[in-house]
Amino acid sequence: MGAGEGKQGKGLVRSWAQRYLNLGFVAGFLLVLLTYIVVTQQFAITSPDAVPTMTPHRKQAISAPGAGVTGTPEGRVEEKAETKPVDASSGDETPKEEQQQQHDAEPEWKKPEDTVATEEEPPKRDDTAAEPLDNGKVVCTTEGPFSDTCDVFGDVRTNGTAHTVTLVPATETESREWKIQPYVRRGMSGISEVTVTQLDSTSAASPAPACTVTHRVPAIVFALGGLTGNYFHDFSDALVPLFVASRRYGGEVQLLASNIQPWWLGKYEAVVRRLSKYDVVDLDHDDQIRCFPSVTVGLRMHKEFDIVPELVPGGAPLSMVDFTAFLRETYTLPRAAPISLMKDISPPEDQEKRKPRLMLLHRGHYRKFVNVPEIVKAAEKAGFEVSIADPRFDVRVEELARSVNSFDVLLGVHGAGLTNAVFMPTGAVVIQVVPYGNLEHMAKVDFGDPVADMGLRYLEYSITAEESTLLEMLGPDHPVIKDPESVHRSGWDKVAEYYLGKQDVRVDVERFAPTLALAIEHLRQK
Ligand SMILES: *[C@@H]1O[C@H](CO)[C@@H](O)[C@H](O)[C@H]1NC(C)=O
Repeated sequence: MGAGEGKQGKGLVRSWAQRYLNLGFVAGFLLVLLTYIVVTQQFAITSPDAVPTMTPHRKQAISAPGAGVTGTPEGRVEEKAETKPVDASSGDETPKEEQQQQHDAEPEWKKPEDTVATEEEPPKRDDTAAEPLDNGKVVCTTEGPFSDTCDVFGDVRTNGTAHTVTLVPATETESREWKIQPYVRRGMSGISEVTVTQLDSTSAASPAPACTVTHRVPAIVFALGGLTGNYFHDFSDALVPLFVASRRYGGEVQLLASNIQPWWLGKYEAVVRRLSKYDVVDLDHDDQIRCFPSVTVGLRMHKEFDIVPELVPGGAPLSMVDFTAFLRETYTLPRAAPISLMKDISPPEDQEKRKPRLMLLHRGHYRKFVNVPEIVKAAEKAGFEVSIADPRFDVRVEELARSVNSFDVLLGVHGAGLTNAVFMPTGAVVIQVVPYGNLEHMAKVDFGDPVADMGLRYLEYSITAEESTLLEMLGPDHPVIKDPESVHRSGWDKVAEYYLGKQDVRVDVERFAPTLALAIEHLRQK
């Protein structure tokens, strides 16, 4: 993306930025930019078997850089699980040299007692010939729509401070090297590259670094920062891709975060600790040489805020329905299904008491509803009990999740607030109000498709020029009103400036009534 778009966005969102403590304010605009221009292309990844088991998590402390919990000797050898026999190479008490000898003698993944599920199990040993994978292997994909990643199998060693992930082959191989930015969107500024190297084992010039910590679980190297801090990107760029990458390990996976953001890990601690039972390692400050049976470098995204089940590694497909079910478990959200209005034979006065609940997302700044009381009245008339929500950036996620989960319909203008759909019960309704200006494609990519993939009923309400405050601001003859296509042709800057940055919404409640009726109708069928 060009720097120009970033600057443009910056000027537009100042008030919003102040409100949101400067976090993620450029992100909001980059989001729409990215989803606006990206043409999603899918590609296939070979995905062998998986063992999707969930083990109870143990206490996890996520440490700030330098806080001394991760990357310290105490944090070493975190792979000891109760279910596994303890051997010499997995004990804290084992001297480094001995660990190294053990390691050299037998790569971790060859150990028969290793019960850890890995993305790609080594092939069954064949006594007649050496399997190619026995030598280790690196599988990199740089053709995805958003992300570059490598999967490294075999004797894999990380040097965090050097940002290197090295495969030490058992026999002679050609030396190869890849540079991967482990953030889900390639080309993101501020994200350090990780060098993935397949060593030429015979070369004296590239000796393998000795292991100082030996892990028996796979690892995932990923980057935080980037666009996270914007609520949408917290999910689209980090939580969903992390879920996709790690869920199959049932917690038995070591996360190594580059550009670590302690506040972010704190905010989403409940989710992260259910994906990995081990402390997240601060990669940039990790001075250990960690050895793993396999390492995934980088997270994958194939669609915005979404999962493409066929492309989930590990063989057991996951979907957004699984993701939202996982969140409900994580935050112990009580409702997995919305209210049922079908065959309601209770007396009318009881029916009155159990109305479907509609959450109206009220944005405080641009792209806000300017006639909230009218909309509330229309929704009440349609049969809903209405609450107005204006979630703050610093709200506790668990609190927000509980609140959202108690509703049957989520209604909001295109914006990050609609991300809260993840906490709605499956089968509930999300109504996205699309601002004026040919924004339907963007609305579909960011929320329409993801929401439908979550098993929610998605309804879209595109406003007319008459319902946009742009009309009174610019007059009917302005190209922004008369010819949105020409604005799109002029480039992203004007689209962001006018349609996203200067527009508020006055819903024509008469015109909107059928959409509300559809929402009720859907809940009746439940
Ligand atoms: C990690 O790499 C850096 C830079 O190449 C090097 O100085 C350091 O010694 C390495 N760490 C270990 C523990 O070998």
